[in-house]
Amino acid sequence: MSLWRVGGGDRNRTDLDGFAGELTARHALGGPEILSQQDFYFGINDVVSNDYRTGKPFNANVFKLYDAWNTVDRGGVDGSRAEARRSVARGETLFNTKPIRITGVKGLNDDLNVAALQGTCTTCHDTPSSGNHSIPAPLDIGLTDVTRRTPDLPLYTLRHNLPPFETVQTTDPGRALITGKWKDVGRFKGPILRALATRAPYFHNGSAADLDDVVDFYNQRFGIGLTEDEKDDLVAFLLTL
Ligand code: HEC
Repeated sequence: MSLWRVGGGDRNRTDLDGFAGELTARHALGGPEILSQQDFYFGINDVVSNDYRTGKPFNANVFKLYDAWNTVDRGGVDGSRAEARRSVARGETLFNTKPIRITGVKGLNDDLNVAALQGTCTTCHDTPSSGNHSIPAPLDIGLTDVTRRTPDLPLYTLRHNLPPFETVQTTDPGRALITGKWKDVGRFKGPILRALATRAPYFHNGSAADLDDVVDFYNQRFGIGLTEDEKDDLVAFLLTL
C-alpha cells in the first residue's frame, strides 16, 4: 500500500509524506535530518532495567515527533492536509499510549515471570525516535505459529532433546537456529521502524503485505480493540517514519 505516499511521489524526498506534506512543517520533528541528531546508546530507555546511562525509568513516549500536529488548524494548508497531520499525531499518541495486554510472548512474559504485562507498542519498540529495542531482546510474538502458516512458508517440526521431549511445529525456528536453545524457538529481534513506507512487506517473513496488515495482526494477537479510525491513524503515523 501507499508507496506513492513516500516523498509525495518524489522518490528523492524522504522528508515528505503524500498526505501530510513536509514532515517538519509546523514545528513537527519528522524526517531524516532531525533523526540524525537523536541520541542513541546501548540500553537507552530500557523497559526492564531502566535507562543504562541515566538510570531513568522507561518512558513510554518513545516518539515525540508530531506533538505539534495535534493542534494544527486549517491555517496555511488546505483542510485535508491539516486532517492528515492530525491523524499522524493521533497515531503517534496511540503508538505511545494505547494499552496492550501482553501475554504469551517468549522473551518477555517467561523471562519476567508475569502472565500478563500491561504495556503499549513502545514496551517492545523502546528506542526513542527509532522504535527498535535498545538492547538485543529477541521476542516470540507468535508470527511463526503453525496456525498462521501459509502454503509458501516452510514447516519445521522440532523436538526437544531433553525430557519431557516436547515437540513444536513452526514456520521458522528464529534465534534457536543460532543458539540451539529450545527457549529461543520463534524469537526474533524487533527492527528499527524508520522508513517503513519504503519497505513493504513487513515482519521477517513478509507475512504482512502492508501496514494495515501489521496493525490488524497486533489488534488480533493481543485483543487491543482498536477502532477502524484508530487503525487508520496508527498506519498514517507509521508511514511518516
Ligand atoms: C510484545 C512485543 C511487541 C509489541 C507489544 C509490539 N511489537 Fe511490533 N514488533 C515486535 C517484534 C519482536 C517485531 C519483529 C517481528 C518479526 O519480524 O519477526 C516487531 C515488528 C514490527 C513491525 C515490522 C517492521 C518491519 O520492518 O517489518 C512493525 C511495523 C511493528 N512491529 C509495529 C508495531 C505496532 C504498531 C505495535 C503496537 C500496536 C507493536 N509493533 C507492538 C515486538 C512488538
